[in-house]
Amino acid sequence: MAPKLARRGLNVVLISRNLSKLELEAKEIERLHGRRTRVIQADFTGGLQIYGDIEAELQGLEVGVLVNNVAMTYGGNKLKRLLDCENPAKSMMDVVNCNILSMVQMTRIVLPQMVSRRRGVIVNLSSVASLRSVPLLAMYAASKAFVRSFSLAVATEYRPLGITVQAVSPCVVSTNMTSHPTPGPLIKLPEDFAREALDTLGLSSDVSGCLSHALQTLLMPVVLPEWLIHTPWGSQLLLKVTGSLMDLSE
Ligand SMILES: NC(=O)c1ccc[n+]([C@@H]2O[C@H](COP(=O)([O-])OP(=O)(O)OC[C@H]3O[C@@H](n4cnc5c(N)ncnc54)[C@H](OP(=O)(O)O)[C@@H]3O)[C@@H](O)[C@H]2O)c1
Repeated sequence: MAPKLARRGLNVVLISRNLSKLELEAKEIERLHGRRTRVIQADFTGGLQIYGDIEAELQGLEVGVLVNNVAMTYGGNKLKRLLDCENPAKSMMDVVNCNILSMVQMTRIVLPQMVSRRRGVIVNLSSVASLRSVPLLAMYAASKAFVRSFSLAVATEYRPLGITVQAVSPCVVSTNMTSHPTPGPLIKLPEDFAREALDTLGLSSDVSGCLSHALQTLLMPVVLPEWLIHTPWGSQLLLKVTGSLMDLSE
């Protein structure tokens, strides 16, 4: 999203936990798009205490667009039962802090200045997983349901004040999170997805982000109905589809 926004003329602040990756991306944005950048190192699993520093670093900047993109899966990238990870208590907290608290707190930080200008855009990355409960992805899917629900409610609250809030709920994009599956008609490259998703800004507060994912989302209740994935066969099918080797009978 950041390079696409820079290409459209915005200066960019990148926030993430890996400083060298941030600096590399910032330099690339400056080189390719001639925009100014700033990086802020923060680990969003850190809970409420990290937001004081972020707020201080953003002081004096006019933030026109906030993209809440950060998220993690539960205990690594594989599908798993709730207790099938090394430290369930910490993993649960990490997902809540990273996927939910980050969006809520970043919104709290930038919204007041947007409201005072009566102008601003907040894009929150949800997921197709937000639309139904998903066994073996319980924490992730539930966190994404929170993101979508929160976004749609806040969109209605702040639309009269000139603020656009949008929930983007993709299917599969080829990234680290999905272990880089081969892109094709169903699976988008991140740069293509970001471009198409940004084109939907202002059209609706609730989008899949691109045409292919909108069609997949529309067909999903027919191809893989929610009742089916809550049966043992359905869960196995889910595992086969996602290529995981976990044995549910363990
Ligand atoms: N990929 C998909 O198929 C898909 C589908 C539906 C929804 N989404 C949503 O799209 C968004 C982007 O996902 P993605 O696929 O691009 O994920 P990703 O490849 O895992 O990238 C996640 C980004 O978040 C950062 N990050 C992760 N944990 C962090 C932490 N604790 N503190 C600070 N930064 C952290 C990572 O930074 P570092 O590089 O520093 O780790 C990375 O830049 C997420 O909200 C995801 O839920 C993705």
